[in-house]
Amino acid sequence: MTLENYAVIGHPISQSKSPLIHNRHFETVGRKAIYTSYDVLPGHLGAVLEAFQTLGLRGFNVTVPHKVDIIPFLDVVDEEALEIGAVNTVVNREGKWHGYNTDGKGYLNGLKAMTGSCLEQMRVLVIGAGGAARAVTTVLAKHGVKQLAITNRTPARAVDLKANLGRYINIDVLDQSSARRALSSFDLVINTTSLGMNGEDALPMEIENLKTNVYLSDLIYNPLETRWLQIGKSEAKAVQNGLAMFIEQAALAYEIWTEKRADRAFMARMIREEMEQNETDE
Ligand code: ATR
Repeated sequence: MTLENYAVIGHPISQSKSPLIHNRHFETVGRKAIYTSYDVLPGHLGAVLEAFQTLGLRGFNVTVPHKVDIIPFLDVVDEEALEIGAVNTVVNREGKWHGYNTDGKGYLNGLKAMTGSCLEQMRVLVIGAGGAARAVTTVLAKHGVKQLAITNRTPARAVDLKANLGRYINIDVLDQSSARRALSSFDLVINTTSLGMNGEDALPMEIENLKTNVYLSDLIYNPLETRWLQIGKSEAKAVQNGLAMFIEQAALAYEIWTEKRADRAFMARMIREEMEQNETDE
């Protein structure tokens, strides 16, 4: 049996945990496959896809800054990926590239594990309106929640998201001070901004006046606990970092590539241990 090849493309790429999670998972499930990372500069996607075709890659992940720009290079793009406007998973089916977005569904699966079935009844505030917010708001709008509000430093980007998702839900766009004043009305607050990444102290929003039993979700997983989650967890019913989404998007990508079920429990255990070990080492 030949060795299957998978990859991730992005720039920068050295920080990506995808090679680790996929290679260790391939090993555990006994799949003869290898997953490599490639640093690809903008403007080279066409050449990279041609090379991948020549080399017989079975599939690959796409990360920043290529998730949007990859779309015109693909033969078929899944409907939800088009709605989100970004592709993070590509599979080679008989020489044709099929693109998917597993970030959105990955986020929703991870979130449901925290909130259970009451998500539909929740009033949700999303902080941020970039690429990550787009995946999150699209799946929440399609899933259905009681209220969906977005606040962003640059309100025009939140207005764009509202327009794109108008057929699913009416989104409330709040400026930052209105969002702060209304904070006590939300059951779930999600940080999709980069504030708090790599131990930076800035908060995406002050933790004050939170609703009792609020859920807090931060898409960041490095550090495992941002200062925002650290402050919020004493008041919240539960908090969740970005690891759940990372694990789920990887599991869903594996399932698209192989049509086999991923071992999520292994992925979760392995990556948690790895991240905790890294934090202890630092
Ligand atoms: P990603 O794909 O990770 O979402 P992005 O598209 O660059 O990255 O979006 C980053 C998000 O973090 C945006 O909502 C951005 O706000 P703007 O739209 O106003 O740029 C938000 N963000 C980044 N740095 C920020 C800062 N210093 N203060 C407030 N918001 C910030």
